[in-house]
Amino acid sequence: MKERIVSGMRPTGKLHLGHYLGVIQNWVELQHKYESFFFVADWHALTTKYDKTENLKNDVIDVAIDWLASGIDPDISTIYVQSLIPEIAELNVYLGMVTPQNWVERDPTLKDMAKILRTKEGQNSQISYGLMGYPVLMSADIMMMNATHVPVGIDQVAHIEITRDIARRFNNIYKTDFFNEAKPLLNNCSLICGLDGNKMGKSFQNDIKISDTEEVTAKKIMTAITDRSRLRKTDLGHPDECEVAFKYWQIFGKEEQIEKVKCECEKGERGCADCKRQLGALINEKFKEIREKRRYYETHIDEVKDILNEGSKKARIEAQKVLNNIRRLVNMY
Ligand code: TRP
Repeated sequence: MKERIVSGMRPTGKLHLGHYLGVIQNWVELQHKYESFFFVADWHALTTKYDKTENLKNDVIDVAIDWLASGIDPDISTIYVQSLIPEIAELNVYLGMVTPQNWVERDPTLKDMAKILRTKEGQNSQISYGLMGYPVLMSADIMMMNATHVPVGIDQVAHIEITRDIARRFNNIYKTDFFNEAKPLLNNCSLICGLDGNKMGKSFQNDIKISDTEEVTAKKIMTAITDRSRLRKTDLGHPDECEVAFKYWQIFGKEEQIEKVKCECEKGERGCADCKRQLGALINEKFKEIREKRRYYETHIDEVKDILNEGSKKARIEAQKVLNNIRRLVNMY
């Protein structure tokens, strides 16, 4: 039997290259090796945006479109919407009972989220009970499919650790070995920074979206930070101190391209503007097919909805099997 992966993303709107390189690309490869479940975590979106749900439905679809365009294949992977699987909410209840409060309180990722929330919404912003339960709900997502592995970005690893702890505790309490202790699966791609050199993120306005047009991409790339000490084209450049552009070359370029850029830059034979124009073209080339596919799905939304509904039905059948076992183990009526 194939081992099983589960992973999800919050519906934060259109995805950027950080999502693509850090997570989606990994999923696309893994789906051939593992039985794969990918879902849009719309309940998790509510943990911080319960009062801003106007775009939630569209955001779910946008995320699904980005996945499909990137090569997640609905014929081999199950793609679903978290909130269409009510079994996850029930499992969340059982897991909430066995999870000690201090396990969630010390979750570093949750602490970061709380910090961001406070900077955005002011010092008085309240952390809801639902947000405190973020790692437990995430454990329910993973354990619902009794996954063996969870492919995520490095920022999610702390959550997976809690999931393993909760699975072990559940198994101990109910004297079973039913739940796997799911392992994180990290990819080996280096993290892509934003155009300003900080972490790429939608809210920092330093991202390039999968869905950006070629013109927008080219324009954004021109704002990428380079070697700050360099003023003229003929100044000798320092690729290693080039804060963004050369890093992008290293991610997207072929070996010989990278070497050429480095040599020319060091000799003062390549201006930063020219360099970024070429870089924009390279990135546009990389995403050409994905963007074409994306445009197809944008104009065939019903097809996307069908995929989500079908996938959710399939996921639900798996969830019900697991839940039957859990109810029996916990001795529910
Ligand atoms: N917390 C994840 C993120 O922000 C999304 C997520 C929710 C998830 N449930 C999950 C990821 C279960 C993996 C497995 O990206």
